[in-house]
Formats: sequence, C-alpha cells, structure tokens
Amino acid sequence: MVKVIIGCQWGDEGKGKVVDLMSQDADVVVRVQGGANAGHTIVAGDQKFVLHLIPSGILNPKTVCVIGNGVVIDPDALSEELELLKKLGVDVTGRLLISNRAHIVTVEHKQQDQKNEQSASRKIGTTGRGIGPAYRDKVSRVGVRVVDFMKKDHRFDAFIADTGAYLNQAIRDKKKIIMEGAQGALLDVDHGTYPYVTSSNTTAGGASTGSGIGPTKIDHVIGIAKAYTTRVGEGPLPTELPEAEGNALREKGHEFGATTGRPRRCGWFDAVVVRYACDINGIDELVITKLDVLDYLPVIKICVGYKDQKYFPADIDMLAAAEPVYEDLPGWQTSTTSVRRFEDLPAAAQAYIQRMETLIGVPVKLISVGAERNQTIEKN
Ligand code: GDP
Ligand code: IMO
Ligand code: MG
Repeated sequence: MVKVIIGCQWGDEGKGKVVDLMSQDADVVVRVQGGANAGHTIVAGDQKFVLHLIPSGILNPKTVCVIGNGVVIDPDALSEELELLKKLGVDVTGRLLISNRAHIVTVEHKQQDQKNEQSASRKIGTTGRGIGPAYRDKVSRVGVRVVDFMKKDHRFDAFIADTGAYLNQAIRDKKKIIMEGAQGALLDVDHGTYPYVTSSNTTAGGASTGSGIGPTKIDHVIGIAKAYTTRVGEGPLPTELPEAEGNALREKGHEFGATTGRPRRCGWFDAVVVRYACDINGIDELVITKLDVLDYLPVIKICVGYKDQKYFPADIDMLAAAEPVYEDLPGWQTSTTSVRRFEDLPAAAQAYIQRMETLIGVPVKLISVGAERNQTIEKN
C-alpha cells in the first residue's frame, strides 16, 4: 500500500505532524524531492523536532526512512540532523537509507543561492539552502550524485543503497509505504506560482520519479491543507490579510518559518488554490490542520473564487491582480484543542469544514486541532 502525502498550499501545512502520526502504522516513509529547504515539525510530549532531510517517520522505531533519488542532499545539513537525533536519543541504525542516485548540494550551491537572492531584480525569497543551483546542475548534467560523492567522502556509507530497488521489493512484500511530500503544490516548478516556486516537482507525480516506483504502484493521495493560508518568501498570495489582522493570525498560529525563522505571510483559506491542488495531484482525501488557530475569530472568510477568472491563472501578473470573492462564515469563539470527535466540534466549525468539502469536491477525513499527535479528529 503506497500513500502519498502532499501539501496543498505553499508549504508548512503540517505535513510533519501528519506523517509522524500516520507512520505509527507504516513500515517505510520516503522523502522524494526538495532538500533542506523543508522544515517539518513534530511535537511529541515536551520534545519538538524540526526535520529538514530525514523523513518524519524517524521517531517511530519500527519505521524505515528513505531519502529518495529526487532529493538534493546537503551533506553538512544531514550530518547536523543525524547529530541532533543522536542527542535526542533517536537511533537511526539500520533504519535510514539514502539513495545512491540522489544529488549533492555543495557549498558553492548555497553560496550561489544566497548571492542570486541579493543581486536578483526579481527576488524569490528562497531559503538560501542551495536548492535552485543544485537542481540546475542536476538538469544540466553536471551535478554530483551520492554514488560519486561516496568515492571521496565516507560519512554516510552505512546508509547508502539502491533505494528504488528497496522500495519495489517493499511493495512486492506488501509493506505500508508513505511518500512524504515537501513544500506544497503551489511551489511546484511546473504547476506552481512560477517563478515564485521551488525547483522540484512537489506534486504527486514527483513521488514516482523521486523514488523509483511506477505511478501504477501509488494507491492513495492525501492532501494536507491548513484551515487558512500561509506563504513564506515572495510571490502573490491572493487572500493575504492586511497587516494588523495578518499579525494577529501569525501570532495565534506561531507562523514563523521552521527552516529560516522568517515570519509567514497569512491569509484566509483559498478554495481556488486547494481545488487546483486537488486536481493536479489527484487528491483522494484531505486533512485540514490548525483549525484551532481560528478559534478566536468572530467571522471567518473563505475565498470561493476570483472575480472574472475561471481557472487558477498561469500568468503571475493575473494572479497578483486576482480579486478574491469571499463568503463570510460565523466563527465559533471557543477552544477546539481538546475536541476528539467531529460531532463534538462547535456547529460553526463543522459548517466551516463542510463548506470546504463542498467548494473543493474532496472529502475531509482528518482534522488537526493542535500540534500533538493526539490532537486529531477522524471524520467519516
Ligand atoms: P510542514 O512543513 O508541512 O511539516 O509544517 P511546519 O512544521 O513547517 O509548520 C506547521 C506548524 O504548525 C508546526 O509548528 C507544527 O507543530 C504546527 N501544527 C501542526 N498541526 C497543528 C494544528 O493542528 N494546530 C496547531 N496549533 N499547530 C499545528
Ligand atoms: P516545507 O516542506 C514553505 C519557499 C521559499 C521560497 C521558495 C523557493 O517545510 O513545507 P527554495 O529555497 O526552495 O529555492 O525557495 O519556496 N519554500 C518553502 N516555503 N515551506 C517549505 O517547505 C518551503 N521550501 C521552500 O520560502 O519562497
Ligand atoms: Mg515547514
């Protein structure tokens, strides 16, 4: 059984929490694209982990974690992350596999990324982790792969494997596999808000090319969306809130980047964005996270369309000019963080989720009302 988990907005939807939770029941968790630009947070009791390269299944001692061929690996960031896990008492021996076909992010890639950002006339607001230059070299056929790297540097020898072969055997052995997307659909280099995107395919197709399994082996695609919208870095965000309201939501949701610490821009839930994400990923079901962050609001807006635009526009200037059409929904103004059953949510919160389902046309199966594993509601 292969499930793919995809962010349906601009990243930071809570993939780390959901993958950690779902990996309780998984044999293998795989990262398929991106690199240390990702920051996936897991809260377990009083411990908080932010993972950048290692899959979010690593806290489950039974789960094998795979860094697939589609990932670009910064060896120093990986060493740091392994060191941190060791300090926290997480043993990765025999549970971490790194693809011999993955590409390496070099010191030069990181320097170039940071230099480009300083000199560019149109800044992207990258994480500065060398992602663009590393993928550029990969596509230009001048990159350094792990198979080449291991001829000179032996730091990771014990972990390196043909992970495509491993995963295909795991599928034959009927193992439960989760593919953990990084970033979000709107940051996809083909389908996202180009040029304000990352440099990999963050959408479900990337799970096949980035791991070495065929698309026919993917059984289920799960989309994760926040109950509102955030974005880090530059580029249009049609439902962005004015400063004071945006600041309030940012404070409530602790919306500061897990990788760079930058404040995240905040906006209302945009059903146009999530509907588009569901299409380009073939999403079977949705998880809505951070519903609890909206607990304080008297009125919640939801963007149901853009004025005079039928589809999610490819033209970045058209997106920047998009005028969201909003519906006002009543807030619930009561805490949802200890609710565990859908029926026990305030009626207005249930109505908000149901309105999302109708607008998007995909069922919501899980709702998250806090960062802890157990702060989760299953919905039929
Ligand atoms: P990711 O990149 O998709 O894994 O998401 P991040 O870890 O970058 O950002 C999500 C943040 O929200 C993290 O700090 C999580 O601990 C936190 N979080 C996840 N789910 C919930 C939730 O349902 N409610 C609240 N309040 N916080 C959550
Ligand atoms: P996770 O996996 C949010 C954004 C950057 C920038 C753009 C390009 O935690 O959801 P890059 O360094 O990739 O060249 O930057 O993409 N970005 C993310 N935003 N969450 C992420 O990852 C991101 N990874 C990259 O802010 O706008
Ligand atoms: Mg993140």
